[in-house]
This record gives sequence, C-alpha cells and structure tokens, in this order.
Amino acid sequence: STAQLIDRFGRQVTYVRLSVTDRCDFRCVYCMDEEMTFLTRQQVLSLEELALVAKAFVGLGVKKIRLTGGEPLIRRNVIQLVQDIGALDGLQDFTLTTNGSQLPKYANQLVSAGMSRINISLDSLKSDRFRELTRTGDLDLVLQGIEAARSAGFKKIKLNSVIMMGRNFDEVLDLVNFACEKGLDISFIEEMPLGQITEHSRAEAFCSSDVLRDKISEQYTLLESTESTGGPSRYFNLAGSDTKVGFISPHSHNFCGDCNRVRVTAEGRLLLCLGNEHSVDLKAVIRKYPDDVARLQATLLDAMSIKPERHYFSHEEDPQILRFMNMTGG
Ligand code: GTP
Ligand code: 5AD
Ligand code: SF4
Repeated sequence: STAQLIDRFGRQVTYVRLSVTDRCDFRCVYCMDEEMTFLTRQQVLSLEELALVAKAFVGLGVKKIRLTGGEPLIRRNVIQLVQDIGALDGLQDFTLTTNGSQLPKYANQLVSAGMSRINISLDSLKSDRFRELTRTGDLDLVLQGIEAARSAGFKKIKLNSVIMMGRNFDEVLDLVNFACEKGLDISFIEEMPLGQITEHSRAEAFCSSDVLRDKISEQYTLLESTESTGGPSRYFNLAGSDTKVGFISPHSHNFCGDCNRVRVTAEGRLLLCLGNEHSVDLKAVIRKYPDDVARLQATLLDAMSIKPERHYFSHEEDPQILRFMNMTGG
C-alpha cells in the first residue's frame, strides 16, 4: 500500500519501538519497583502477533524498528522474532535496546539475523554501584556482553547512560573514556518521570544535558554533529576519536516537534507518545481479526489523529505518568 502514517501536525511516523516483554532480569531504580507484578502470558502479544504488528507498520512506510522491553532478550524464542522482522522488505534499520546481560549468549545470532546496530545500557563502571542502581544486575556479565557485541560485528554499538546527581554523576568522564577505548558511541539520558520511585528524589537527582556537556568538555572537545539516527539524541563528535556522544534531553530540550516515532507496549497497546496516555488497543483488533494485516493497518492509520503534539515532563511534580518505563518500552 502507499498509505503513510502522518499525524495532525504533519509528522510522519517512520520509527516504531516495539516492546517484546515487560519483564527484565534487572530492577533499575529509575525504571522499576523492587517488587513488580508482571503481565501474564495471555496478556502479552505472541511472537506471531508481534511479527504481524511489525509487518503492518513496515507496509505503511516505517523504516526503523527497535525492539525494547523490559529486557527484550529474555523473551523466549526472541531470535525467531528477530529473524521474522529482519526479513521484512522495506525495513532499513533494525535494532534493539538491551541491558546487555544476555549478549554473551545472543550477540552472534542477532547479527546473523540481520541486526546491524544495538544500544546497551550502562550507568556505572563500579560493580558495587552497578548492583545498587540495577538491584539485581552484574557488571561483569554486562561487560562480557559488551565484548560479545564487539566481536559479533555490529556496525554500531551505542551505550545509554542515565546520569543522576548523587548517584553516578562522578562517572561521566569514566563512561566517556570507556566508550572511547572500546570504540563505541554513548548517549546520556535525562531521567524521565515514569512511575513512582522511592529510591531517590528525581528533582534532586536531575542532571541536565548542559551540565553533562560542560563536564565532558573539561577533558574533551565536543564538535556538534548534524548526524541523526532518527532518534531524539543530539550528537557531538569527540575530537580525535571515532566516538559520538549523544544527549537525550526530554526536559531541557524538547524534541517533540520532529517526533517520528510511536511505541507498542508488550500488551499490544499503541502509545502515541511516551509522555502522554493516548493509546489504542491493537491487541483487541489482532485477536478479533487474526492475521488481518489490512484491518490492523486501518487501525494504525486512524490512530494518527490522536498523536499528541508534545510531552510535558516536569521533575517538580512527578509523576504525571504512572506506568513504569518497563511498561512503555523505553
Ligand atoms: P538511536 O536509534 O540510537 O538514536 O536510539 P534512541 O535514542 O531512539 O533509542 P534508545 O532505546 O537508545 O533510547 C534511549 C532513551 O531515549 C530511552 O530512555 C528512551 O526512552 C528515550 N527516548 C526515545 N524516544 C523518545 C521520545 O520520543 N520521547 C522521550 N521523552 N524519550 C525518548
Ligand atoms: N528515565 C530515563 N531513562 C530511562 N530508562 C529507563 N527508565 C528511565 C527513566 N525513568 C532507560 C534505560 C535504558 C533505556 C531503554 O531507557 O536506562 O537505557
Ligand atoms: Fe531492565 Fe532496562 Fe528497566 Fe533496567 S532500565 S530494569 S535493564 S528494562
């Protein structure tokens, strides 16, 4: 079909973030509660349903799909899904956001299935602190995962770090050094007010991208880059290296004006914006009309009329969005 996903503000959706599970082997303090209740198997989309959603989107002009979670690589048989999506005609960029713990096991298979880029979360290089921030994560395993990804031959590997004052701000330069040494890119993300957290005050922990840039500039020259991956990151080249440093600034630099993306939650709910509740229940449509791509596509086209203009995040009055990030797909 030639129909395209264009919203009321003329923005075209070409990027879909598809959450394959709400579960995770970590419990990062900014993402989840210590005790979480997860969805049942019946509630989440099956691998076949996820593949159908991907196919419907690509038929409507979507060029980029990112698998997210929770932790996408703990979904049973996820490689089957990766192969199915990797084989879709018209998809230009297929990638995944992971905590890295399963990469020693899966990195090679992901590359073989056609994945060319990968984003790995890394908030600390100190084992004790890594454990504190992820509650159940093991730094060594993630570092092994990063090495596995490096030797598997991804074209691009990017680290994602959420920096919080009083938590890991003192590691900003260490993280940049690490990225440089390993030949990786790195993005710094401002913490977003999704879900009620108790571990720290988000207002007090807030660290703006400008503060980070100043910190990094103490040791490096940051050259503004025009490059875009089609995500919200603003990129800089580190003079004298291949590393790019990105800043994702939902608070300090609103990027909604050229938003090109939507999300599908593990439950099969189409979320039109990370910072709003506007959504459409795709699962209901899929289960009523199984395998009916055209019906699903009509639903997606209709949904464009409720994509909100922008998000309004504030760290003073959190949280406006009660669902946690793992329910949202990052
Ligand atoms: P690239 O393709 O590498 O540019 O990826 P990306 O930055 O789009 O994806 P990634 O999964 O690495 O996301 C990093 C962070 O950016 C996550 O915390 C996301 O929640 C956040 N992010 C991505 N898209 C949006 C968005 O539309 N709005 C907001 N507020 N945050 C977003
Ligand atoms: N604010 C900002 N980033 C978050 N992530 C998870 N929860 C939050 C939050 N509340 C990040 C993770 C990972 C990406 C998928 O989302 O660190 O890098
Ligand atoms: Fe898991 Fe990622 Fe959430 Fe951490 S941020 S708990 S790794 S889904």
